[in-house]
Amino acid sequence: MTKKIILDCDPGHDDAVAIMLAASSKEIDILGITCVGGNSGLNNTVNNALKVCTLIERTDIKVYSGANKPIHYELFTAEYVHGKTGLDKKGDPIIVDTNYKPQEKHAIDFIVETCKSSTEKIYLCPTGPLTNIALSLKKDPSIKENIKEIVFMGGAAMCLGNTTPSAEFNIYVDPHAANIVLESGIPLTMMGLDVTHQVNVNSKIIKSMNENKNKSSKFFGELMEFYTIFHKELYETEETPLHDPCVIAYLLDPSIFSGKEVNVRVEENSELTRGETVVDWLGVTKRPVNCFVMNEANDEKFFQLLKAKLSLLP
Ligand code: BDR
Ligand code: CA
Repeated sequence: MTKKIILDCDPGHDDAVAIMLAASSKEIDILGITCVGGNSGLNNTVNNALKVCTLIERTDIKVYSGANKPIHYELFTAEYVHGKTGLDKKGDPIIVDTNYKPQEKHAIDFIVETCKSSTEKIYLCPTGPLTNIALSLKKDPSIKENIKEIVFMGGAAMCLGNTTPSAEFNIYVDPHAANIVLESGIPLTMMGLDVTHQVNVNSKIIKSMNENKNKSSKFFGELMEFYTIFHKELYETEETPLHDPCVIAYLLDPSIFSGKEVNVRVEENSELTRGETVVDWLGVTKRPVNCFVMNEANDEKFFQLLKAKLSLLP
């Protein structure tokens, strides 16, 4: 059965790949793309979503603009990874048709109304800070009934953070939003750095995608050429984690990943550990299980899937 999803993102190079993976899959029905301030300011993330949909010739996908800052903190962005536009790359610029604009409706209203009116339960797929999702749940808690699952990219269970030693970017940016989601009682799946660092892009992968010989795979290569620069320096390896598409890959083929149901909470305030996902892997706190945390990924299966799906795009 087709999974109905709302893709909530902050494109972002890896968010862009998540959009492409979802848009190429008939198993997934994208009800809308909602954008949040994260990797870059909100205007950029919205514009980047429009650019990606333009390039893959899916301007039928509606894009909604959401929260421009976290619930309590000021917005912290990642231009140092994604560039000035949030989606810097080599190659020709993508010109968005003047008729393809973000929707008037606010992303939070779209999420609430869509969850309430859908005859089928919906998957929420956040690949940025969880602000839009948390504010939607606050606005109308009854939407929980119609959410099948929230599969989110964020957190680090048993590995170092990428924004501070203890925090992953999406959770660091809006830890209060993360706790609202974690306390919601909705089925949650966390695709954190534990798995995304097992799914790495390198020059071999870029070359392999280019064998598809379509413009979307070429676009993937152009994005990755830029995205890998920062990671090569930080991690001193040729391997760059491709975080956000893991969310969509999980919906398409859960057998790529495995993990454990545990309790997760987030540190909101500490100067040292803000945004740390405190994952009770051993169950030592006896706090109730609230999240399925993934810790293993099969990268071969992941990239086979991505290559096959990208080949279906223009
Ligand atoms: C997350 O942070 C962003 O830079 C990426 O788009 C991804 O969602 C990884 O920590
Ligand atoms: Ca992202």
